[in-house]
Amino acid sequence: MCGIVGYVGRKAATPILLEGLKKLEYRGYDSAGVAVWNGEKIEVEKAKGRLRVLVEKTDNGAFPVGSAGIGHTRWSTHGKPSDINSHPQTSGTGRTAVVHNGIIENYMELKEYLASQGVTFVSETDTEVVAHLFEHYYKGDLLEAAERVASVLEGSYALGILVADHPDTLVAMRHDSPLIIGLGEDENFIASDVTAILEHTRSVYYIEDKEIAILTGASVEVYDQHSRRVKKTPSHIDWDVQAAEKGGYEHFMLKEIMEQPAAVQATISPRIKNGRVELEIPLSDEDIRSFDRIYIAACGSAYYVGCAAARVLETLLHIPVLTQLASEFRYQSPLVDERTLVIIISQSGETADSRAALREAKRLGARTLAIVNVVGSAIAKEADMSLYTWAGPEIAVATTKAYSTQLAALYLLGIRMAEARGTVTPERYGELVAAVEALPGLIEKTLGIKEQTQQLASRWFSAEHVFFIGRGIDYAVSLEGALKLKEISYTMSEAYAAGELKHGPISLIVDGTPVIAVISDNRLFEKTLSNIKEVSARGASVAAIVCESARDISGEGVTPLTIPDCEPLFAASLSVIPLQLLSYYIASLKGCDIDKPRNLAKSVTVE
Ligand code: F6R
Repeated sequence: MCGIVGYVGRKAATPILLEGLKKLEYRGYDSAGVAVWNGEKIEVEKAKGRLRVLVEKTDNGAFPVGSAGIGHTRWSTHGKPSDINSHPQTSGTGRTAVVHNGIIENYMELKEYLASQGVTFVSETDTEVVAHLFEHYYKGDLLEAAERVASVLEGSYALGILVADHPDTLVAMRHDSPLIIGLGEDENFIASDVTAILEHTRSVYYIEDKEIAILTGASVEVYDQHSRRVKKTPSHIDWDVQAAEKGGYEHFMLKEIMEQPAAVQATISPRIKNGRVELEIPLSDEDIRSFDRIYIAACGSAYYVGCAAARVLETLLHIPVLTQLASEFRYQSPLVDERTLVIIISQSGETADSRAALREAKRLGARTLAIVNVVGSAIAKEADMSLYTWAGPEIAVATTKAYSTQLAALYLLGIRMAEARGTVTPERYGELVAAVEALPGLIEKTLGIKEQTQQLASRWFSAEHVFFIGRGIDYAVSLEGALKLKEISYTMSEAYAAGELKHGPISLIVDGTPVIAVISDNRLFEKTLSNIKEVSARGASVAAIVCESARDISGEGVTPLTIPDCEPLFAASLSVIPLQLLSYYIASLKGCDIDKPRNLAKSVTVE
């Protein structure tokens, strides 16, 4: 979704802003712009389309010339993508420029008020209202104007503001949308996402809801909503610059697929000590025993992680575990009370629907646990407890390594909780810990399937529809496989519980329809094989993900994609790999923009 970067210091701002915006491209956008104080006025350059259009328009960052400015990548909500609707938005005099992430819910009301004061609007955006409003309230004091703006805005916002009267100063403020301040020497930055400024600094302040920051090159002052100065402690960002670079890979997605063994290792190894799972969350044995059910709420791939993890947790804990789409959670009358653990899974930690589910769970009295990748994100802060996945920055819109680390974190949670509840024997506990520890090596081995998935992709890339089938955990993985394929290759893909095909969807199978079956648990082999036979008999072209120890099915006209044997409860971590690779290669053969699929955003901060 939208991205913000701002710079104030001594260097030329425009190249820094453009570089920062480049790092934010992965979030998804449809237009971009910068506003820089050029010594006489705030000069604005904006362009619909890819960032390269803006780069050309500014002659590669040669102008506007100045050392304070704000930049933005926009993912349209109010008003179509266009030069005019792009940010920065300015006030009528052009003396206030604003970049904004989020949605101002009462913007129509504010617009009417401003119109009654003689203000005219040029764009369709809610953001333009903020620029006019700021100017309307500005009487010489930036903080006072920012506070008055904050007092009337409803909705979510991260704002970067540049005012001509204070050309060496930026104003930053937020509510329900992330914003950080990067601290440099004689220079400071604002950004919606740490990747935008990582190249310049790793020292950041996290701005909290309703806080307002006033930055110059030499100082950063942060105030709470009652104008009290807030003392901030800088946080250090461990992510290194290379982690956010392609490192020789053609796409971030492929790089991130290949990083999965290391990411899973980083997530599990600090939490297994001498064969025991030790989690850094405040959850005592007594707490764990008090839960009588678990809800998992998440969106997209994180929801499919939840679907797989629910099977693992139910098996290990002997209590009901229900997974719900975060966007539906509030509408399902969830049976949540103080005996419920609600787990929110989110890579970004900013997904609006997941945040709303978290708030609902807290309102209903549940204990809440967030499984989150981005440190300091809203969900991590709002939940009662957070378990971070240490996947590092995930840049490709389609998640891969975050998915794998989320699964790993949930396996650890399951083992820890099973021990406290006494639902596993000491021997089984030991086996499970060893099985989790083996995962990075097994994922590495599974990645060796790359060439085979490439070959399959070359057979299937022109298919209009692809079907994914599986049972139990394999069904959850099939759902993820179908999502991966559709989001990056635009191929219609559907996942079905294997036994469900014959109840309707089998009518869609015709000669040559690609079907991929996931059978990671040999106990389900014969049952799913009978479903494979049903579709083969109707002409489907079938591939199957099977374990090394499974019976050979190549003689039955099925292309096997073999994964190593592993603990069946944790097999989703391996069976997803060929599906990620298959989607990647199909998208590549179709010439798709793999890292930035159309219409999608990395961090979905609107409901
Ligand atoms: C799919 C994908 C999305 C996200 C979903 C949730 O590849 O990346 O479906 O999983 O938007 O995002 P987070 O995990 O940031 O809450």
